[in-house]
Order: sequence, then structure tokens, then C-alpha cells
Amino acid sequence: MTQELTTTATTGEPTPSRPGWWREAVIYQVYVRSFADGDGDGIGDLPGIRARLPYVKELGADAVWLTPFYLSPQADGGYDVADYRRVDPLFGSLSDADELVREAHRLGLRVIVDIVPNHTSDQHPWFRAALAGGPERERYHFRPGRGARGQLPPNDWESVFGGPAWTRAPGGDWYLHLFAPEQPDLDWDHPAVRAEFDSVLRFWLDLGVDGFRVDVAHGMVKAAGLPDIGASEQASLIGSQVLPFFDQDGVHEIHRSWRTLLDSYGGERIAVAEAWAPSAERLALYVRPDELHQAFNFQFLTCDWDAEAMRATVDASLAATGAVGAPTTWVLSNHDVVRHVTRYGGGARGLRRARAAALFTLALPGSAYLYQGEELGLPEVTDLPDEVRQDPAFHRAAGQDGFRDGCRVPIPWTPDEPSYGFGGARPWLPQPASWRRLSVASQSGDPHSTLELYRAALALRRELPGLGDGTMSWLPAPEGVLAFARPGFACTVNTLDRAVQFPLPGRLLLATTAVECGARGVLLPRESAVWWAI
Ligand code: NOJ
Repeated sequence: MTQELTTTATTGEPTPSRPGWWREAVIYQVYVRSFADGDGDGIGDLPGIRARLPYVKELGADAVWLTPFYLSPQADGGYDVADYRRVDPLFGSLSDADELVREAHRLGLRVIVDIVPNHTSDQHPWFRAALAGGPERERYHFRPGRGARGQLPPNDWESVFGGPAWTRAPGGDWYLHLFAPEQPDLDWDHPAVRAEFDSVLRFWLDLGVDGFRVDVAHGMVKAAGLPDIGASEQASLIGSQVLPFFDQDGVHEIHRSWRTLLDSYGGERIAVAEAWAPSAERLALYVRPDELHQAFNFQFLTCDWDAEAMRATVDASLAATGAVGAPTTWVLSNHDVVRHVTRYGGGARGLRRARAAALFTLALPGSAYLYQGEELGLPEVTDLPDEVRQDPAFHRAAGQDGFRDGCRVPIPWTPDEPSYGFGGARPWLPQPASWRRLSVASQSGDPHSTLELYRAALALRRELPGLGDGTMSWLPAPEGVLAFARPGFACTVNTLDRAVQFPLPGRLLLATTAVECGARGVLLPRESAVWWAI
């Protein structure tokens, strides 16, 4: 994708020269706490990110998505917001946020910020007032308990992080929290909740952000009467069926109203849904023309390394989003799941597959999300000591995807500085010694490195007119091999553990490993991907 982005001097607001930038954008997820630490306290922050924006630009991304940096007691890594209009001092100040947005725009990068509308922190003034008996109570879900003395939770819902989704408040009633007890769920039937979030969206849009990643976009509306589910192990049901607290049809009306609000601003501001829907069709409902722009494609993220399954997932995703005229977003990792090098088997095999998956997804039609560190081939850190872990799911001894600290370990920038150049001597999570050779500086300039593979792929993606948004068609391929064409371009992926002979598709552009091409054929190396000009 080639896209110029100019900025207006006064507001730093980007003016896209090409409509629909988000349909094919590569968006780089920055986990704020773990990207770059500007003040040396061991925790990543906004000034640290700002200083590293040129890295993201040179990588070839179009935008950054920043995880929550708002005032928060950090009971769930900032997804427990106490004030939606203030920056937590851990991460900087509002003027740091403002400068970050302006600097990003100056570099031609857009900025997406997280919005957390399903729940607040228990330290949010509304919830404190609710506990004190104020009318703010109506903005949350308080209910009397069951049992003779109200000693049992009001229904059988379980928290995504384990245990009941209800906590008993002083005074006897229970309040709902689909996540940690420090994250009480808001009641979106209350007009004050809706009005407040409209105002918060406007606050950040006025500051110049280009859009929002909507946390738990499938959860804001609960089924009337909060009915029992009648099953336990409910975390395992998420994403496989509509639940009384997830993927209720009522959420769409909220998204429609947000779209109207976004469209009332210039510059194509967007929203991307974090929605765990049971099917590609249900997910597509979030990206109908009058709703959100994108939704993360978790069906693809959770797909096994299996050619048939990958192909079926791509087909289902493109068919479902295509039916509503939306792009698909390809995503392999984020701050909630085990890094894909490790999901794909770890070690040399996991890395081979991860590199191939990167070329595969970056060649598919639509937009792609990259999670910081995947361009370095970082694996999950699986041996963190219990005492450093901060994931509330770990401490509640359950969790939707296992425990999430291992994918949040701070980024290694340089081989020889303390904390590998992340900043400070002691990062909030320890980095493995093996990450020294995975640092940005260690990989830069090495044509075999994963970083240079990503840089080359993203540069080609910009240059080649056939990539990004558009169409694709599968090419005939033997079992275990995926091959598809885009205008002027083809991609082959050999998912097997052995090399496979294949007719020469065209001129080799980029490959995850050395490839032998003959006059008529090519030997596709095991677990590899190749880009071809055709
Ligand atoms: C999804 C976020 O990505 C995750 O990190 C968080 O714990 C939950 N939503 C609750 O906000």
C-alpha cells in the first residue's frame, strides 16, 4: 500500500490521501508497559514509545495500536480504568500522549488507542460512589444474592479469569464482573453510561487519535434478566456460542451509534472490535457498513498449522466479511495469547512456521495486525517465576488462554545494554538471556533475520499494487501446500515437514529460507513460504 499522510499544523490530525486506508493497513500493536521505557523505572511508557516510533515507521507499519495507558490501579494491565481522560503517571502525562500522537502523524503513522467500555476499575469514581450507596449504582449490575441469606451469587456466570462473575459488596448485594473483581461491568442500558463514553471518544478524537480498539466489544450488553447458563467451565464456551453475556445482538446498536460519532470527524477515524464471536458470520455482524470498521480475526489466530484448516479459515473469513463489504484483519498474536512461535511448536520449527505464517498473512487480502516482538521472532517466555507474574488470571488460577505474562516480556532492543536497551536496569518482567541475540540491533542488517524478513515483506507489500485490499484465488497445489494468486503476485506455503516439488509460479521475490528454483520447478522447503511475481 502506498499512502501519503499529511498533517495539519495546528491539530496534528492526519489527512489521508487515499480513502479506506484501514482496509489494507498494517497496524502494529504496542503493549505500552513492555515496548520502551523512557524513564528507566522498568516499565514502558509513552515517551519511550515516542522515541521508538521511527522503528515502527521503518518496519513499514501504517499505524500503531496502543494498549490502555489511562489512570488505573493496574489490576489487569490497565484494562481496569479509573479515569478515561487521564494518563497513568506510570506511563507519562496527557501532554506525552499529545506529543506521541503528533510525532506519529509527523512520521506518517496513525494512532489507534484502546477503549475499555465493558467495565471500569473498582477505583473509578462511579463505582466508589456506587459502593457508598449513590445513584451511580444503577450504572453497574448490582443484584441481591440467592439463598436464604443472599449468600449465593445471583446467577451461575463465571468470570473469564476464573471463579464466579460476582462479588458481594458491603451491604450485601452482589456486583457483576466478567473479568476480575476489580473490573465491575457497566450497565449499558443506563443513558449516563452511553453519554459518558460518547464524551470519552470525543476527548481522544479531539486530541487527534485515528481510532479505537474496542475492548470486549461483544460484551457490553447482557441478556435481559441475566439468565443462568446451566453449565460450568464457561471460559471454554467463549467464542463457540452466543452466551447471555457475550455476543448479544444488543451490542450492535451501540456500535452503530459509535460509527456515526466516528464519521462525524474527518480523517477516517476507525474502530476495531475485539469480539470473540462463535462464527465468521457472527463476527461479520460487527463490521457491517454502519458498524465498526474492523474486527480481529480470532478464527485465524486459533487455527492449527494445517493447510486444509488454514485454507478453510481464510475462505470462511473472506466470505463472511466480503458479504458485508468489510476487510478481514489477519492477526497471529496479541498480548492475550501465547506467542505464535511457541504455539506452532517452539524452537527452530516454531520459528520456521511463524516466518511462513507471516508471509502468508501479509499476502492475504485485507489488513494485518502485528504484535510487538513478532517481527523479532520472539517466543513465549514460559519460565517466569510466580512472584513476578501480574496476570490476574494467574492469580485466580484459571484463564482464557493460559497465563498472559509470557507474551508481555519487554522488547530487547540492543544486545549489550542492561534490559537489552528496553530502559532501566530491571524490567518489570525479566527477559531471557537468549533474547540478547534476538534484539533489534542484533537482527538489523542480517538478511536471514526475522526482522529483515518482516521489513522486506512490508516494503514489498507497499510497492506491489496487487497486495493489500482486493481479491485472491487459490492455485492448484498438492496436499499440505497452499498456493494463491493476487494480481501480478503469488504466494506458496509448504506446511509440511518435508520439501515439496512445485511448478515454478513465477519470479522469486521473497522467501522465508533459501529456495532452489529450476527451469520448470521449485523445491519448496519444509515449513516455508515464498512470494512470487507472476
Ligand atoms: C481483552 C484484553 O485484551 C485483555 O487483556 C483484558 O484482560 C480483557 N479484555 C478485559 O478487559
